[in-house]
Amino acid sequence: MHMNNIPLALYIHFPWCEKKCPYCDFNSHVLDLNASTDLEPELEDAYIDQLLFDLDRDIEDFQIEAPISSIFMGGGTPSLVSPQAIARLLEGISQRLSINPKAECTLEANPGSSDQVKFQGYRAAGINRLSLGIQSFSDTKLAALGRVHSGAEALAAVESARQAGFDNINLDLIHGLPGQTAQDALSDLERAHTLFPEHLSWYQLTIEPNTVFFNRTPSLPTESDLDQISTEGWSWLNDHGYGQYEVSAFSRGNHYQSQHNLNYWRFGDYIGLGAGAHGKVTQQQPDFVITRTRKSRIPNDYLKAAKRITKSVEAADLRLEFLMNALRLNEGFLLSDFSQRTGLASSELVDFIAPGLAQGLLIKEDQKLRPTQRGLQFLDSLLLLA
Ligand SMILES: C[S@@+](CC[C@H](N)C(=O)[O-])C[C@H]1O[C@@H](n2cnc3c(N)ncnc32)[C@H](O)[C@@H]1O
Ligand code: SF4
Repeated sequence: MHMNNIPLALYIHFPWCEKKCPYCDFNSHVLDLNASTDLEPELEDAYIDQLLFDLDRDIEDFQIEAPISSIFMGGGTPSLVSPQAIARLLEGISQRLSINPKAECTLEANPGSSDQVKFQGYRAAGINRLSLGIQSFSDTKLAALGRVHSGAEALAAVESARQAGFDNINLDLIHGLPGQTAQDALSDLERAHTLFPEHLSWYQLTIEPNTVFFNRTPSLPTESDLDQISTEGWSWLNDHGYGQYEVSAFSRGNHYQSQHNLNYWRFGDYIGLGAGAHGKVTQQQPDFVITRTRKSRIPNDYLKAAKRITKSVEAADLRLEFLMNALRLNEGFLLSDFSQRTGLASSELVDFIAPGLAQGLLIKEDQKLRPTQRGLQFLDSLLLLA
């Protein structure tokens, strides 16, 4: 039964996009939208019905009673869905589970598939945080990334979100782009700063298998250029009031840290609804078992029968899985949280802590362990010690 002291979040996946970006390996499928930027009403109705059915089954099978601490609607492109459908979904969720009245409720939106009226509708439906996939403000870089929007449309989307009343906005930006210099990357940050977002996600471009970029990789900055971009970018962000709290996440004050993402990094639990969505549920008694879930990936399969694949995390993998998440955070973690979230004794960390400290990648403060700035920047080397 999920009635423990581990927070429980809710992730909902919307698997459609107008066009597939050549670097993206998320579960997103191109939909022929007939020049419109909305899903067909029949399709979105059927999908919302299926999401609620999926939720009913997770609640029943995992005996979920805990209140929901945050909600994240991600994609794909959730902003292809109408505000009416999002309102019906949120209403349906609140009929089934209690939602913390202060819960952060985020929706991801693409510039180009959203306008001010739609944003107002999302806000009225109960969305209180918007995450906009800007990537870059440079038209040349956006074209190299195969994006459908321009820099001007990106700016307009942020302004529309503000006018619609959103006071908690995240912008996604990617650096390490084809042909990018440190100066180009800083110009994107400067441009973003003129819009004063509460949160910035500043990701380094990764080349993922099964993407167009994997098969035809564009010419990317060298390793030393990438290090220069991230070092200069991190310090620019810090100097301009964006505190880094995770490898790629920056916020204007602790209040705007993403509650939903913090829950992943702290190894909290989450229900995952929608095509290809992942979930994680911990049972503490009588035995400690962490179950990972994944729903049918292909949208039409999900619509026909939202199948769930479940897998228990092997005890041998638990330590590394926890560290891969918790060491992304500047704050690190309390040893007691390690035990609560993994069921393992904190003595299991001893042979990891010693070399981490010796190599200057870790800091131990009383009952807390956290990465140094170098540890954050070279997280892969730190995790190799685990
Ligand atoms: C799953 S996407 C959904 C957001 C929305 N569909 C969009 O693209 O605007 C979330 C974010 O992940 C980031 N992202 C996706 N693929 C990436 C990659 N290969 N490397 C770095 N960041 C990536 C982008 O910044 C993107 O906005
Ligand atoms: S719009 Fe977002 S989710 Fe869709 S393909 Fe592009 S990066 Fe992936």
